[in-house]
Amino acid sequence: MTSQLDDLFSFLRFPSISTASEHTGDVLACGEWLQQKLNGMGLSVELHETAGNPVVVARNVHKEGRKTVLIYGHYDVQPVDPIELWDTPPFEPVLKDGRIWGRGATDNKGQMLAHVLGVEKTLKEHGELPVNLIFLFEGEEEIGSPNLVPFIEKFKDELACDIIAVSDTGMVARGTPTLGYGLRGIACCEVTVKGPKGDLHSGVYGGAVANPATAVARLVASLHDADGNIAIEGFYDDVKPLEDWEREMWSQIPGVSDQDMLDQTGSPEVFGEPGYSSAERLWARPTAEVNGIGAGYQGEGSKTVLPSEAMAKFSFRLVPNQDPLDIAEKVQLHLQKHAPTGVIVEVEVGHDGKPYYSDPHSEYGKAAQSALEKAFGSKPVLIREGGSIPIIKDMQDILGADSLLLGLALPDCQIHAPNENFWLENFEAGIAMNALLLEELAKVERAF
Ligand code: BES
Ligand code: MN
Repeated sequence: MTSQLDDLFSFLRFPSISTASEHTGDVLACGEWLQQKLNGMGLSVELHETAGNPVVVARNVHKEGRKTVLIYGHYDVQPVDPIELWDTPPFEPVLKDGRIWGRGATDNKGQMLAHVLGVEKTLKEHGELPVNLIFLFEGEEEIGSPNLVPFIEKFKDELACDIIAVSDTGMVARGTPTLGYGLRGIACCEVTVKGPKGDLHSGVYGGAVANPATAVARLVASLHDADGNIAIEGFYDDVKPLEDWEREMWSQIPGVSDQDMLDQTGSPEVFGEPGYSSAERLWARPTAEVNGIGAGYQGEGSKTVLPSEAMAKFSFRLVPNQDPLDIAEKVQLHLQKHAPTGVIVEVEVGHDGKPYYSDPHSEYGKAAQSALEKAFGSKPVLIREGGSIPIIKDMQDILGADSLLLGLALPDCQIHAPNENFWLENFEAGIAMNALLLEELAKVERAF
């Protein structure tokens, strides 16, 4: 474990924040570290330049007649702010209370390295893997993978595979292995509301010109009705209804009761679309979220000002079979239709990702369940995920391969937040799971 932990700590020390341009060099250095690590394991590795951050691809010697397994992960991380809320510096990892603390510990460096180290272990013990392996690691997942789709299209033949394995999702509770078979998609946008040419005295002009802060608040409020249903015309048109077997299965799953929601989030009450459980709201229903809202004076005391501009950032989580581009259009129409008088509303559409769905009971799905059961010692639960990994649906479309989502993140891992951490027990189980997974996948009979 010591050298495996050393590897994880080295990997975590790179501040590979993809959204901040001052960290471009750190993302590259992190990719180069990964390249070296994989090279040292005897794999053939290429670090491919892209218009953005590099893609690292590694493979063993492929042989006729074996299954080809592609393992995807990302080595970029989210920003660390608010930095003052971290108990230890985000890029100086430590092991404390059974967990590894640091930005990226879970999302996604710890989880992806578990696969790398699992492969390293098998290679050391057996000198060979039971499958043809392709590692595909990118440095832009946290910004919507802008350069990966063209990359995969370009190298479609080299990346051809039977099945994809990804550990970049959640486990519902400690000791409950979890196979994900769906992901929500996403569509992001930003709205700017413009009023007077500059900030005004709120007494001298207030009442005679529209206030952009009021206008943006009205726009935000227009997204939902009072019950929590999304009020954008046509928003639910393409939503695939929940299957009865999913509702039944999810009602038995630990970690997603109303009380769990309150414990995990600290919210005073659960809230959401009427007629659905929390699990259903998270995994099978779309959302409209305000990620940020701003206007006017936010400093100490009061300042009688009428701000000239206001803004809000939105993200919409999407479920099968919603199309992000179609939703972005519906959102724009909605915002223009609800634009209050006296201001100008500008909408800028941001990045997006398609929702993903696959059959957890396929032969590969069963192989994954069996690997999880052997690694964790209990039967896995089957869930969809609330989060998004946009490239997963693109890979299904371009490479024709499904993804097995073998999540190792626990609800208290604080991904994207201060004090991100990864349970050491899941790092260890993840390494063991990789070896079992490759064995189980190798055994799957080709149905074609
Ligand atoms: N690993 C997460 C996605 C995730 C987390 C899925 C937990 C399921 C459970 C991934 O790194 C992520 O954060 N994705 C972003 C994508 C976005 C920036 C396009 C997300 O979901 O917000
Ligand atoms: Mn993430």
